[in-house]
Amino acid sequence: MNPTLKVAPSILSADFSRLKDEIEAVEAAGADWLHVDVMDGHFVPNITIGPVVVEWVRKVTKIPVDVHLMITDPDKYAPEFIKAGADWVSIHPDTCANPNGTLEKIRKLGAKSSIAVNPDVPLSKVEKCFSDIDMVLMMTVFPGFGGQAFISDVLPKIEEVRKLVDQTRAAILVEVDGGVKIDNIARVFRAGGEVIVSGSGIFKTPNYADTIRQMRHAVAQS
Ligand code: DX5
Ligand code: ZN
Repeated sequence: MNPTLKVAPSILSADFSRLKDEIEAVEAAGADWLHVDVMDGHFVPNITIGPVVVEWVRKVTKIPVDVHLMITDPDKYAPEFIKAGADWVSIHPDTCANPNGTLEKIRKLGAKSSIAVNPDVPLSKVEKCFSDIDMVLMMTVFPGFGGQAFISDVLPKIEEVRKLVDQTRAAILVEVDGGVKIDNIARVFRAGGEVIVSGSGIFKTPNYADTIRQMRHAVAQS
């Protein structure tokens, strides 16, 4: 399998007073997906974006909308995000009684499903979900805030998950999320990351097109 790099800017680090412009700017700069971080103040100590915002995001972009649910009740709310236009929905395993059931429900509602793996969670905990996922989301920070430092200890686990998904017959993407910037994206891709989220690494830089170009260049050189 030859993974193709997909750059997914996380709008959490965008200027929300100009969200439409920001989305159009990253899209024009070459973003492949848009990553939307949903936090409820319960599962993580931060509150961010709800379905109403996703509905507007959906209206201003054509690229896939990748919703990362960091909330305590994805069973209740995932359908609302899908209705609002989410193409991809990631859930954290600790937030539902039966993750396979939740993932199956996400698929039935027409979205692609993904399971998130926190830095301190072993892959054995989520392997049973592999039959019901289209993607696995490897966290390289602890969820809760944008702008945290990349935890490089997760790299061997990304290599491990890449081997596992390559062994499965289903096409499962590997997404990596947290602290990715120009200077470490090549390591993430080499380890097996394919959909690579970057929030502050893109939105806090002066020229998004330049940044994404440099990210692609770093990966191509690696
Ligand atoms: C962390 C979020 C990440 C984060 C990415 O809880 O899931 O998506 O916003 O932002 P950076 O790239 O700034 O770490
Ligand atoms: Zn995220």
